[in-house]
Order: sequence, then C-alpha cells, then structure tokens
Amino acid sequence: MDGYRGFLGLLVSALLVGFLSVIFSLVWVLHYREGLGWDGTALEFNWHPVFMVTGFVFIQGIAIIVYRLPWTWKCSKLLMKSIHAGLHTVAAILVIISLVSVFDYHNAGNIPNMYSLHSWVGLTVVILYILQLLLGVLVFLLPWAPLSLRALVMPMHVYSGLLIFGTVIATVLMGVTEKLIFGVSGYSTFPPEGVFANTLGLLTVVFGALIFWIVTRPQWQRPKEPNPILFQPNGGTREGAEGSAINFSHVDQSDSKLNNEVAAKKRNFSVDEAGQRSTM
Ligand code: HEM
Ligand code: HEM
Repeated sequence: MDGYRGFLGLLVSALLVGFLSVIFSLVWVLHYREGLGWDGTALEFNWHPVFMVTGFVFIQGIAIIVYRLPWTWKCSKLLMKSIHAGLHTVAAILVIISLVSVFDYHNAGNIPNMYSLHSWVGLTVVILYILQLLLGVLVFLLPWAPLSLRALVMPMHVYSGLLIFGTVIATVLMGVTEKLIFGVSGYSTFPPEGVFANTLGLLTVVFGALIFWIVTRPQWQRPKEPNPILFQPNGGTREGAEGSAINFSHVDQSDSKLNNEVAAKKRNFSVDEAGQRSTM
C-alpha cells in the first residue's frame, strides 16, 4: 500500500478523535446535565446526543472506511460488505432509538415536534440513511443485481453516502448549539459546559474531516478483485463467491460456448472499469 504510514497515522487519529467524541457526549450528559434515564424527562432526552454521536457519527464513520483497511484486503468481498452493512445497521438502530427518545421527551412535556431547522435536516438525513441502507443491501449484498446495475449505482452510492455523513456532522453542530442556547444560562460568558460542548462539536468536525480524507484517497482504495465474475448458464453474469476465480463448473464447456463466455467476460470487465470499483 502506498503511503502506509500516513494511512496508519490518520486511522489512529480518526479512532482517537471519534472515541473522544463519544466520551465527550457521555461526560456532557452525565456530568453537566441530569444523567440518563427513560422516563419522559430530560434524562430520556439525554440519550439523543449520546446515541447520535455514537451511532450516526462514530459507527457510521468507521463503517465508511472499513474497505480501506489494508489488513482486510485478503478477506472476501462478501465478508467486507457484510461488515460494512452490519455497522451501518447498528448505527441505524442507535439513530432510531435516539429519535424515539427525543420525540418521547417532547410528547411527555407537551413540547411541539419538528419546528427547528435541526429537526428538519435531522429527520431528512435519517430517512435518506435508511433508504441508502436498504438500497445498498438490495443492490450490492443480495446476489441478484446484475453487474451493470451495480456499476451504475456505485458512484451514486459513494456520493450519497458522503453527503449523508457530512450532513450528519452539520446536524450535530446545530443540535449542540440549540441545546446550549436553550439550556445553558450565560452561554455568552464562556461557562465550562459551553466550552466543553463546543469542543464536542469541534471533535465531530475533525473526525468527519479525517474520515473524509481517508475515504477520498484513490491510492488507499481496496484493490480490484482478480476476477469477481461468475458466469451463468444463460450467458449472463453475476458476482458470486466473492473474490473467487471464474467458476466454470456449471457451464457447458463446448468450444463455441466458451468463446462466447470469453467475449462476455471482456464486455463485463469494461462495465467493471466503468464502475471504478472492481468488486461491487
Ligand atoms: C445527526 C444527529 C442528529 C439528528 C439526526 C437529530 C435529529 C433530531 C430531530 C429529528 C429532532 C426533532 C424531535 C422532535 O421534534 O420531537 C431533534 C430534536 C433535538 N435535537 Fe437532535 N439530532 C441529532 C443530534 C443532536 C445532538 C448531538 C444534539 C445535542 C444536544 C441535539 C439536540 C437536539 C435538541 C435540543 C432537540 C429539541 C429541539 C428541536 O426539536 O430542535 N441533536 N433532533
Ligand atoms: C446507509 C448506509 C451506507 C452508507 C452511508 C454507505 C456509504 C459508502 C461509502 C461512502 C462508500 C465508499 C467507500 C470507499 O470508497 O472505500 C461505500 C462503498 C461501498 N458500499 Fe456502502 N454505504 C452504505 C450501505 C451499504 C450497504 C448496505 C452495502 C451492501 C453491501 C454497501 C456496499 C458498498 C460497496 C460494495 C462499496 C464499494 C467498496 C469498494 O470500494 O470496494 N453499502 N459505501
């Protein structure tokens, strides 16, 4: 891998900063606020920032860079997709619990719902995240999508994934600011809680910046599989045993058919190149 030491430095920094963000969110609610509980009071609201920072920021960030870890390049693509999808699913579950906590808290206290810009952008990004997750499973994890469809969807998947991740960080900043303005008297006088929560916001921005840098370096992308295509008896192709060589076992190996397959293989490699990601 090119620039391995740089990669390692950035990865360790991202893990440290991400972990620190989670700790900061916990210290904020446990030390500066009322603590945690599930009773319709502020204790229940406090799960909202903790689970958003843990799930939507930290776990999502790690899920986005798992393909880039060079130690995993020898693992099958199917395994890596399952880890990528699994981490995003864990994040989605925490995000939904976090939303339930804030809606519950509002309803219990007769506070109106969905009036703020934070809540509009926040709910939109949660819906987009769930759609991205479902589409990812349908197109890239389940076996039936043809390679051409995967190649078509992949650039949009990466673009929308990064857009969602960036918007999540912006939503966190709005949420933290709102909470400080509502909840901390004398915010403009630099009270310890204000400075502490501002630092939490900064940490999430730095975490986002590190993840964004790691995931946009072409030289750190997972290398293409030697031959990800498994031929079908009907002449179509699909991605099968991830990372395996061509499997001819179920194909009628007459000369003419074999020639057709070689032609199909060439065609599909160009689709593959178009998708920029070999092992979709
Ligand atoms: C990306 C992460 C986040 C998302 C998607 C999100 C989403 C939401 C949504 C949809 C609501 C509306 C709930 C309702 O109307 O009943 C809300 C409320 C709220 N959130 Fe967040 N939130 C996030 C992070 C945070 C963080 C880190 C804080 C910091 C404390 C925070 C503070 C608040 C506050 C104070 C409210 C109540 C006021 C309002 O409705 O705007 N949020 N959030
Ligand atoms: C909401 C959830 C998801 C988000 C935000 C997301 C985001 C991303 C991002 C940003 C990348 C680029 C990674 C890189 O360049 O190294 C990526 C790649 C990818 N994602 Fe997702 N993803 C999600 C869910 C899924 C699911 C459920 C699957 C199904 C397996 C999936 C399959 C893939 C594949 C195959 C790649 C290409 C990896 C490569 O470059 O070799 N994604 N995703």
